[in-house]
Amino acid sequence: MLTLWLLLSVFLSSLLVYFAKLQFYWKRKNVKNNFYASTIGVLKLFLLQHNIGALCEQLYWSTKEKYVGFILLGKPVLIVKNLKLIKKILVKDFDNFDNRTMTTNKIGDPLGTRTLFVEKNPIWKFIRSKISSWFSSGKMKTLFTKISQIGDNFVEFVAENEGKPIDLNENCPKYSTDVVTACGFGIEENCFKNKNALSREASKKIFIYNISRGIQFVCYFISPFLTNFFNMKWLDPSSSEFVEKMYYDIKDKRLIEGTHDDFIAELFKMEQKNVYHTDPVEIMAQAAQFFLAGFETVSSTLMYALYEMAHNKTIQRKLRESIKNDLKENGGKITYNSLVGNEYLMNIIYETTRKYPVLPFLDRICRNDYEIPEDNLTIDAGTYIYIPVQPIQRDSEYFPDPLKFDPDRFSIENKEKMGLNSYLAFGGGPRNCIGARFGKLSVACGLAKLVSNFDLNLAGEYEELEFDPKGFLLAPTKKIKLVFNKI
Ligand code: HEM
Repeated sequence: MLTLWLLLSVFLSSLLVYFAKLQFYWKRKNVKNNFYASTIGVLKLFLLQHNIGALCEQLYWSTKEKYVGFILLGKPVLIVKNLKLIKKILVKDFDNFDNRTMTTNKIGDPLGTRTLFVEKNPIWKFIRSKISSWFSSGKMKTLFTKISQIGDNFVEFVAENEGKPIDLNENCPKYSTDVVTACGFGIEENCFKNKNALSREASKKIFIYNISRGIQFVCYFISPFLTNFFNMKWLDPSSSEFVEKMYYDIKDKRLIEGTHDDFIAELFKMEQKNVYHTDPVEIMAQAAQFFLAGFETVSSTLMYALYEMAHNKTIQRKLRESIKNDLKENGGKITYNSLVGNEYLMNIIYETTRKYPVLPFLDRICRNDYEIPEDNLTIDAGTYIYIPVQPIQRDSEYFPDPLKFDPDRFSIENKEKMGLNSYLAFGGGPRNCIGARFGKLSVACGLAKLVSNFDLNLAGEYEELEFDPKGFLLAPTKKIKLVFNKI
């Protein structure tokens, strides 16, 4: 009985401390405190009625002030709206904001914990410095033949289904899975032809948005305690098994076959040089990271771009013209240089990621107490910082008529007028997207091949998309279907 009373009083006093913190923590600091977010908002995260991106969006529009604070399961969170301060956090004062908030279970999920996205500084810095040369433009150029071949496979599949509605949610991931497995691991599976491709089975599971995965995604970002307690895994077990098996199979083969230019070859080289003398799992984790980070981002961005092309016929025609001009100049072939040098195509990719940033918020942890003298504010060490990318990129203050799809916003003349810090689709500073060049090239290749071969039409009505509250990446709730007609 005494134990029960003790437990009850501990529970009640914790609740009291929690509510006192909710009320006074940000108030004391003179920052607008959002009581709704700290209570109902958090509850709705666990009920999967909205995700962190949507919560950030709601808070972004709730005030005109530079910041808004709330408490997330006892942790102070600051949503930063001010672009100058965002730049300081991401770039100038990066040393004090060098880690993401995300945690996974170190023992139960050794691969997930060591991925570059999750890994903490200084190990993060060490790994990043070792793998970043693989993402250089020189390397991209050598990989282009592979990506181009996969683009041709997509065209072949679409030609076979000409005039019928094609489900992009199902087929863009086939393209990106093939790109990632070919460039990352030298495996050519052709998911369009091979319905049982193992890589597609694995990629399907990584970002499956069911209730259990939805709750896990919330926990990775907001509760190390729950993540550890329930032994949650960032990578679905069968997907990590797939990556592990692929890693060892390829390693054995490569001992016989010799050199390759894919990402895993780079990792093997590092292993041979004993760069990872501390922990070989670290290497395998980067292979898993490549697979995980590459396919969903590329597939979603390509899908959104195709959707907007089918809706905005004038832009579609202008893009086709520009690609046809390039084709004439290059003997009828799409080349690496023609893609990256096509300003209009690249601006379409920027505009797509502006309107649909796959990662709708960025996050960092404040390492040491951080002074903002002009606002007389100290951000305490340990505070979670959320940067609301999607609402910033849809704010008419920075992007007039924000729902309009307008690639010319990114033309050289207009870019100069635009606040440079307001485009954050690939993040910013030393921890920005390492795969941005590879991602843009893969999307550009798929888009250019499809638009130059087909007239793209919506299978239904155009509507502004809504996004799945169970995911942490931007995923549409409805199926996107297009009808392609040969030109
Ligand atoms: C259109 C495609 C892509 C988009 C929109 C995108 C977006 C992002 C964003 C917003 C971040 C967070 C940056 C930050 O916190 O400042 C990120 C990080 C990252 N991305 Fe991408 N990404 C894309 C493609 C790729 C590809 C193809 C790869 C690799 C194959 C990749 C690998 C990574 C990695 C490893 C990180 C973590 C970097 C670090 O912590 O050092 N991404 N990405």
